[in-house]
Amino acid sequence: MAACPNAQLLKNNLKTNPKYCFRFKNTENFPSINTLKPSRAATKLISITCSTATELQDRPPAATSSAAAEDRIFNFGAGPAVLPEKVLRKAQSELLNWHGSGMSVMEMSHRGKDFISIIEKAEADLRTLLSIPQDYAVLFLQGGATTLFASASLNLCNPGDPVDYLVTGSWGDKASKEAKKYAKVNVIWSGKSENYVRIPDFDELEQNPDAKYLHICTNETIHGVEFKNYPTPKNKNGIIVADMSSNFCSKPVDVTKFGLIYAGAQKNVGPSGVAIVIVRKDLIGKAQEITPIMLDLKIQAENKSLYNTPPCFGIYICGLVFEDLLEQGGLMEIEKKNKKKGETLYDAIDNSNGFYRCPVEKSVRSLMNVPFTLERSELEAEFIKEAAKEKMVGLKGHRSVGGIRASIYNAMTLLGVENLVAFMEDFKARHG
Ligand SMILES: Cc1ncc(COP(=O)(O)O)c(C=O)c1O
Repeated sequence: MAACPNAQLLKNNLKTNPKYCFRFKNTENFPSINTLKPSRAATKLISITCSTATELQDRPPAATSSAAAEDRIFNFGAGPAVLPEKVLRKAQSELLNWHGSGMSVMEMSHRGKDFISIIEKAEADLRTLLSIPQDYAVLFLQGGATTLFASASLNLCNPGDPVDYLVTGSWGDKASKEAKKYAKVNVIWSGKSENYVRIPDFDELEQNPDAKYLHICTNETIHGVEFKNYPTPKNKNGIIVADMSSNFCSKPVDVTKFGLIYAGAQKNVGPSGVAIVIVRKDLIGKAQEITPIMLDLKIQAENKSLYNTPPCFGIYICGLVFEDLLEQGGLMEIEKKNKKKGETLYDAIDNSNGFYRCPVEKSVRSLMNVPFTLERSELEAEFIKEAAKEKMVGLKGHRSVGGIRASIYNAMTLLGVENLVAFMEDFKARHG
């Protein structure tokens, strides 16, 4: 019987996280990670052998285990957020000398053939992942998603043109306020008075039939509200503009339903400093006169995101993430994994007899950002402190809403979520 490659990983988990580790019910029969039960009691290192290659979801290969890997923690932060260990290792291995170029990606000219090959591959892989048609431009820009709040109306409207905003959280609210500077914004629905816990029936919406676009934020990072389907613009020539920052590439999306999609990279697909835009080509080229050249999407499209010096290293890392997502089987596979993680965490909240509570309506709960509170709110600070001691960080809710928020983006492993759930159960047992 050969040693199972995952034995080392489990050993590592026990080392890094001795309290919230996994104990086998039956070591003879070890089919998958899903049969492992987290147990606070298991504190001893165990060695495991098994004869079959076990499918352990989204864990780094055993060969990558090292002291550095053991020191990594579970980062539940909302962004910049956890990146796949495999991607970080690849970047590390290519850092000094990218593909024999004798230099790092940070040092090479953005107009040289090496970097051009990097950005072209990143774009091609993203096109494959999301099946982006050729009549859409894909751009890698700077200024974060916040800059796109302005670019959307600057590029798609004449001053005073009407636009509709459906506000399901703080980010949609911010986007609508920024757009007011460049277009006539009509907030057709806002969940603010209810603390952003739901998305209305689309039939309830009073859309302006002349609105140039309808803006939505497909996943509200702070409030944990996620669209599971999308409204249709009432204006036949209207389009949907979507801020997808915090659920970009977390599931398949029909790009053709949207005129403009934008996303900051730093949640699901890369480091901060890169904002990704997917825009239908016929919509650009009519930017308002006051539009700064860097925000003119037509100029950026014509120059293939290289009008000025782009965030080269960030784009390179995004490219590695896209490659990794494709290697994992594409976005349908990623969505399956995200659903499993989401179910695991929401079940723990819902089955806690009210000790933990998630305020968001079940049908629109986010698979990326899971906000919850403790029945006894005075325990929240202690929860965060104790979790940090157990190497689970980034769990403090956004400063505007408080409570706890676990961000479980693509790169957060099921193991990380199971560790959190084991900790939550233990915390409840001690304080409930
Ligand atoms: C949904 C959403 N939109 C926009 C932003 C702003 O992004 P950036 O900081 O890249 O400007 C964020 C940041 O967290 C976000 O979560």
